[in-house]
Amino acid sequence: MRFVDVAGARVSVIGLGTWQFGSREWRYGEAYARREALAIAGRALDLGINLIDTAEIYGLGRSERIVGRAIADRREQVFLATKLFPVLPVPPVTRWRGHASARRLGVSRLDLYQLHAPNPVISLGISMRGFAELQEAGLVEHVGVSNCSLRQWRQAEVSLGRPVLSNQIRYSLAVRRAEADIVPWAQANDRLVIAYSPLAQGLLSGAYTAGSVPHDVRRHNPLYLPENLDRAGELLDCLREIASGHGVTPAQVALAWLVRRPNVVAIPGASSVAQLEANAAAAELPLSDSEDRQLTEVSGRFRPAGGKGAVRRHRLAEAAGRLRRRET
Ligand SMILES: NC(=O)c1ccc[n+]([C@@H]2O[C@H](COP(=O)([O-])OP(=O)(O)OC[C@H]3O[C@@H](n4cnc5c(N)ncnc54)[C@H](OP(=O)(O)O)[C@@H]3O)[C@@H](O)[C@H]2O)c1
Repeated sequence: MRFVDVAGARVSVIGLGTWQFGSREWRYGEAYARREALAIAGRALDLGINLIDTAEIYGLGRSERIVGRAIADRREQVFLATKLFPVLPVPPVTRWRGHASARRLGVSRLDLYQLHAPNPVISLGISMRGFAELQEAGLVEHVGVSNCSLRQWRQAEVSLGRPVLSNQIRYSLAVRRAEADIVPWAQANDRLVIAYSPLAQGLLSGAYTAGSVPHDVRRHNPLYLPENLDRAGELLDCLREIASGHGVTPAQVALAWLVRRPNVVAIPGASSVAQLEANAAAAELPLSDSEDRQLTEVSGRFRPAGGKGAVRRHRLAEAAGRLRRRET
């Protein structure tokens, strides 16, 4: 495993995202929540991954509980990250919920406590106060934010009066907005970008087509619109070609491209131990500069259409089509 050293933290370039653990959105079921998730987290630690990312909102606390069980005897191996859901992030609530997360995780210290997203009404200045108190009390080692613009990240730092170690943002070959300012700033200022949805929720594995979109959270993801799956064709072909040259999978190439960027780590979720193992191995995949350039160029031409509105329109048209078929 490779590690990134930033602002006093040492974090594996491939981490483990655990939104999938016990949450309804992914529909992985009870057997996954009770057995596979524990096996995935355990294997992650065996393979040298130390960054495990969860959140109080995932499965309404269930993900944190599963992670807690998985790391119970191995606390010292983990750089443990969780998140505060931004409903009323005022100091007493933040203190109470930080302790509740730690209890579910079975730990006395959170290595990284992140604000899941800025609250549109409560300022970052107020939000950071509770985080500062938890840091001073020793429950929280590092503070992070998520889904923040660069301006908000810097504002959070000013409010905290200390470094805000990381910003967890959507970043992959399919979504590269963060490269405009967030990634360069992190690189120049000893900060960390934690890339979520680094496989564009599995799209970059090349496993899905317009006819095989899974019946889970991905049906609400604009990238999974038939038109966008078509538009992603060139990028997926490029990933497949480079992957076959290395004897690996497109998903591994997509992760390797991300974690070649300094100060960037990725936290892919996994539906099986085999996927976790493949993702961990991507940390060591030696992409060449020319392969990196090729992927960067091709992904720059990927322009997905629409947004949430387009997904709604598409699902409505699908439902209308089903109704018409039933009536004829
Ligand atoms: N801060 C935030 O707002 C935020 C938002 C979203 C996510 N996150 C965090 O980021 C983590 C990852 O993001 P994500 O789950 O949205 O997307 P992701 O990691 O891009 O995609 C995960 C999915 O891709 C598929 N996959 C994973 N490894 C694979 C492999 N080696 N080969 C083929 N397919 C593979 C699996 O689905 P199938 O096998 O079912 O295809 C898996 O569930 C989450 O678990 C969560 O911790 C944070």
